[in-house]
Amino acid sequence: MRILGIETSCDETAVCLLEGEGDFGADFSFRILGNALLSQAALHAQYGGVFPNLAKREHAKNLVPLLESALREADDLPRSDLGDLPRSNLGELLAREPELLVQLQDFLLKYGKPTIDAIAVTHGPGLEPALWVGVNFAKALSQLWDVPIVAVNHMGGHVLMSMIRPEEASSLQLAAGSTRPRPASCKLQAASFPLLALLISGGHTELVLSNAFGEYRRIGETRDDAAGEAFDKVARLMDLPYPGGPEISRLAAEARIGGVTSDFRFTRPMMNDDTYDFSFSGLKTAVRNLVEQHKPLSDEMKLKIAREFEDTVADVLVAKTMRAVEEYGVQTVVVGGGVSANEHIRSELSSKLQAASCQLLLPPPELATDNAIMIALAGYFHALKKEFADPAELRAIGNLRLETSA
Ligand code: KG4
Ligand code: ZN
Repeated sequence: MRILGIETSCDETAVCLLEGEGDFGADFSFRILGNALLSQAALHAQYGGVFPNLAKREHAKNLVPLLESALREADDLPRSDLGDLPRSNLGELLAREPELLVQLQDFLLKYGKPTIDAIAVTHGPGLEPALWVGVNFAKALSQLWDVPIVAVNHMGGHVLMSMIRPEEASSLQLAAGSTRPRPASCKLQAASFPLLALLISGGHTELVLSNAFGEYRRIGETRDDAAGEAFDKVARLMDLPYPGGPEISRLAAEARIGGVTSDFRFTRPMMNDDTYDFSFSGLKTAVRNLVEQHKPLSDEMKLKIAREFEDTVADVLVAKTMRAVEEYGVQTVVVGGGVSANEHIRSELSSKLQAASCQLLLPPPELATDNAIMIALAGYFHALKKEFADPAELRAIGNLRLETSA
């Protein structure tokens, strides 16, 4: 079965064509036939964060070129046999994305229907204006090509991404223009249940428990800022560019290598309370106060803050994860979302979970951030169960939860 995946929930626009075989388990394998991704991070950097309407415009501008590029890589761009555009309500579906409409019409006159069985699109969680572009694009393609749509939860995609066997995963997300061959076949690592997913991204921080594939129950979440958001905001306080996670992490690593320790300590927020919830906004305030006291920040002070901040976030994430592992007898921990690219958090989790004889599945750092492979992959399993969306009902849901779905 071939699935076209579309991702536009935040500041990455991505399209992927995936071919899968078999059901979830040892027999399942998949291949990436084509994949294209464009990050808007550099554009948003000037605003110090993602600017939803700019993200929406960029998605609308980039989706068709990325679709073409993914299909070209897959060698699945048949010539169009249309003399003229088909009668459809395309104009209505894409009324809010006129630039996307014009490009799509042009695409349809050039190219015919690719060999696909379903279109998987992220419908949440994320920035609603951004999500809508992908959703409307998927609806348009679904109607034109007469293929069903699968509505994918973005966080479920992150969970699956972390399960890909590392041998193959590292060559999945190729840099533009790379001629490195893609793996002929990828597999998921065997995971045992109960499984705990630690989802840490720019918009989410959640602990989700799963007793069977595709079944999720959230046991904790952030009460204010997400972990990635905290990294981004703290970076901004220190005049570091967006996205702040990689910047802070680079400084913190430099501090560790250089043996730079701090003479201050941040409170580990909610670390010892009896919930699985998180809170990072007080930590951000603590950093702000410190920055105010020491302005202008010396390079050494930046190293100290970065290290202590990263240690604090890691301590809290690891402590809550370990407590849930113990309480629920968790066999496998899966970490997903952009913050799972963080080396320090990875290594802390890894040593603690190893000591507890619990399996840890981490995505390769380049696949930790948003992409369309994860959406196509999640979409594949839904399509297998014929869980299709009704295009008339399908909508973008900014705060979509990852809860028990079949
Ligand atoms: O999953 P993602 O690409 O987008 C969302 O769905 O939010 O996550 C992006 C977030 C940003 O907040 C970014 O700063 C953070 O992931 N991030 C990191 C690192 N790399 C990306 N945070 C900490 N350390 C990193 N190395
Ligand atoms: Zn994400």
